[in-house]
Amino acid sequence: MKSLWKAVNQELANLTNAGQFKNIKNLTRPMGPVSAIEGIGEVIVLCSNDYLGLANDPEVVDAALACQKKWGAGTASVRFICGTFDYHRELEAAVAKLSGCEAATTYVSCWNANEAVLPTLMAAGGDSVMAISDELNHASIIDGIRLGRQINKQSKSKVYKHSDMDNLEALLKASSDIEYKLVVTDGVFSMEGDIADLARIVELCNEHDALLIVDDSHGVGVCGPTGKGVAEHCGVHGQIDCMTGTLGKALGGAAGGYIASSRKLIELMEQKSRPQLFSNAVPSATAGAATKAIEILTRDNKRVEKLRENVHYMREGLKSRGFETVEGPSAITPIILGETSKAIAASKRLLELGVFVIGFGYPVVPEGSARLRVQISAAHETEHLDRALEAFSQL
Ligand SMILES: Cc1ncc(COP(=O)(O)O)c(C=O)c1O
Repeated sequence: MKSLWKAVNQELANLTNAGQFKNIKNLTRPMGPVSAIEGIGEVIVLCSNDYLGLANDPEVVDAALACQKKWGAGTASVRFICGTFDYHRELEAAVAKLSGCEAATTYVSCWNANEAVLPTLMAAGGDSVMAISDELNHASIIDGIRLGRQINKQSKSKVYKHSDMDNLEALLKASSDIEYKLVVTDGVFSMEGDIADLARIVELCNEHDALLIVDDSHGVGVCGPTGKGVAEHCGVHGQIDCMTGTLGKALGGAAGGYIASSRKLIELMEQKSRPQLFSNAVPSATAGAATKAIEILTRDNKRVEKLRENVHYMREGLKSRGFETVEGPSAITPIILGETSKAIAASKRLLELGVFVIGFGYPVVPEGSARLRVQISAAHETEHLDRALEAFSQL
């Protein structure tokens, strides 16, 4: 047996022994407010990011099919070799407008978008560049910065305490000798459901000449009066230097990610970002679905308002049953239970009661703050939420 197989087996055994082995469920019906799990049956879904209920919306599915029928499956190459289709340009124009930016470009995931923009800018900064990041930022931001540090060994990075604006200001002041600074934050923090103080971050970045990157994967389609995201909620839509986000949550739920920014920054990404230079473009069906999802989002406010009502209803329902929840504009409500084993037991029990909600423990969240993460969709009807709340009562 080759020695590395031993390490593979050992890693898997370690996960099992630590109670961290993930048993991935097999869904037997499409994603929606209600789905079904093999061996379990029908469940109310409170763990998907399908915030606007568009993942299986007939208009979105038809748009995906029509786009694929017209254009074939995809480019069969990377864009700089074989070019861009109209559906990419249409999607990117819609993303730029939604983000309040001049231009946008797309990737097969937001993971790739973050691993494109951070290393490319850190490489461009030569011997005087620093990335400053919130400590609870998404893994793709953390890895993007790690990659940037490797690609440009002279680049630096710092982490500020979660949403601590004094700490961010202190780090910016302490790096006044650095020529190029960038600050990066999630819009909505995925495990807490809280949002970044973008109004203050914009102010600090302008004062200290730092370029601001906001990953609004969980905020776009959800936050702000018209669902344009956390920047709109904070009154700074159009003032963010660079937005990244996913098309795999509220905006159609398939896959894909984007960077929206100035035309020049987007040009640089198209010229130099490795996840675009060396990887295929967003496929036709995904682009068609996402473009339709943005059209539905911007056509009227119905889904955004319904989502907001549902979030309020669920939070009040949980509170009245003695659960502690957070307030705020996002669709994520963590219920802190403490120990990992408690969160896992609670999610197992809820599944038996027909509610699909995930327990997150260490190392995904800090030790002692294991939680259930409840996620609400505009597609939930009151009847679904009542059934879920009844299960929480029994829990
Ligand atoms: C804040 C944030 N950024 C990026 C991603 C990655 O998105 P994608 O699935 O498009 O790679 C996620 C997904 O979990 C996320 O929550």
